[in-house]
Amino acid sequence: MAGIPHDHYEPKPGFQTWLHTRLPIVSMAYDTLTIPTPKNLNWMWIWGIVLTFCLGLQIITGIVLAMHYTPHVDFAFRSVEHIMRDVNGGYMLRYIHANGASLFFFAVYLHIFRSLYYGSYKAPREVTWIIGMMIYLAMMATAFMGYVLPWGQMSFWGATVITGLFGAIPGVGPMIQEWLLGGPAVDNATLNRFFSLHYLLPFVIAGLVALHIWAFHNTGNNNPTGVEVRRTSKEDAAKDTVPFWPYYVIKDLFALCIILAIFFAVVSFMPNYLGDPVNYVQANPLSTPAHIVPEWYFLPFYAILRAFTADVWVVQLVQFITFGIVDAKFFGVLAMFGAIAVMAMVPWLDTSAVRSGKYRPKFKAWYWLLAIDFVVLTWVGAQVPNELNAWISLLASAYWFAYFLVILPLLGVLEKPLPQPATIEEDFKSHYAAPAE
Ligand code: HEM
Repeated sequence: MAGIPHDHYEPKPGFQTWLHTRLPIVSMAYDTLTIPTPKNLNWMWIWGIVLTFCLGLQIITGIVLAMHYTPHVDFAFRSVEHIMRDVNGGYMLRYIHANGASLFFFAVYLHIFRSLYYGSYKAPREVTWIIGMMIYLAMMATAFMGYVLPWGQMSFWGATVITGLFGAIPGVGPMIQEWLLGGPAVDNATLNRFFSLHYLLPFVIAGLVALHIWAFHNTGNNNPTGVEVRRTSKEDAAKDTVPFWPYYVIKDLFALCIILAIFFAVVSFMPNYLGDPVNYVQANPLSTPAHIVPEWYFLPFYAILRAFTADVWVVQLVQFITFGIVDAKFFGVLAMFGAIAVMAMVPWLDTSAVRSGKYRPKFKAWYWLLAIDFVVLTWVGAQVPNELNAWISLLASAYWFAYFLVILPLLGVLEKPLPQPATIEEDFKSHYAAPAE
């Protein structure tokens, strides 16, 4: 697909031309900032900027925290207390970093669900989507390893449970687990490598974000109608778009200010609300907490992991036909990673020719059920296992897979979509037409 036709940077004679012929960096910055952006983007398009801000915030606060933190099992817990009590502004730095992770995930889930509603994953934006999924996986790995660093009880036992999942892989599992831990159990070698990787991964994420942005700049942004910007001429394209600067920069910054006001209210007045008090007890390998719960942003997939117990018939069937190789524990691990894999495959599972959910009456109902399902999974992931919760987990997990593997492929064939506007300009005018004189 050809790029959206628009004006490009013209270097003036002299230094600008000299630099441009050697390193066209100004032209790149200019083209990035003034890129034509659909003029009908709604408030769900702010999350990309919020995410970029979160990444910067986590890197900056993380680097300063690392100046005072000691990655050793004998000192890690105390060094975090030292940051909280002795380092100037240290408690603020730590609370911003810990709650910053929550804001990061909150934004990424809204960003993902926005894309799922408006079909932003569909051709030609599959690569943007897949890179997004890689970012999401890297975010999960980073957050998981970061949570181990304070070396509290939940850090230790969370790490023990999650790395134990790799041990469930038949045959090579225990070897992989030992390799991940750097020994037979979670210990100093584990803490050291987690610290090293926790420092490294955000920069890998930054590289992936650059690719993500490059990819959707190449295809152009999607928009609430799912109708593409006209590329027939510069004039037509200009009727569908506005330059990113100043229009969206100002809009996004306004949204960011409001979000940060809420964020700093949480950081200042309820900084431990989303945390677990058990993590204020130093790690003790000899005392297992009664209830091991991951951070809230892992709960939906943790619920899927726990849903498939040995008494579920699907698990029993798979165990039977694989001669016991896939047992309940391994099935749970496969289901958890599978839940993310089916989401990653959505560009090829959604068969509808219409991109935006706005014009898909049946899709809408199933989509909102998925959003509710995600909230239910988050809730049930934190509950103590009992018979009722086991049923809720199982039903909610089954719906997650059914949505991607059955409902989306069928809807594309069965659904009769509503008429879409011919152009973005038409949609924009229907909302914001100037009042008649
Ligand atoms: C560090 C994390 C991420 C950052 C900084 C980021 C950044 C951005 C930005 C700036 C945009 C354009 C504006 C917007 O749509 O809000 C965007 C679009 C998009 N993102 Fe992300 N993103 C991240 C993670 C993800 C993830 C995890 C996914 C899902 C797999 C994803 C999928 C998409 C898609 C499909 C679009 C295209 C939407 C469009 O064309 O308008 N992103 N991203």
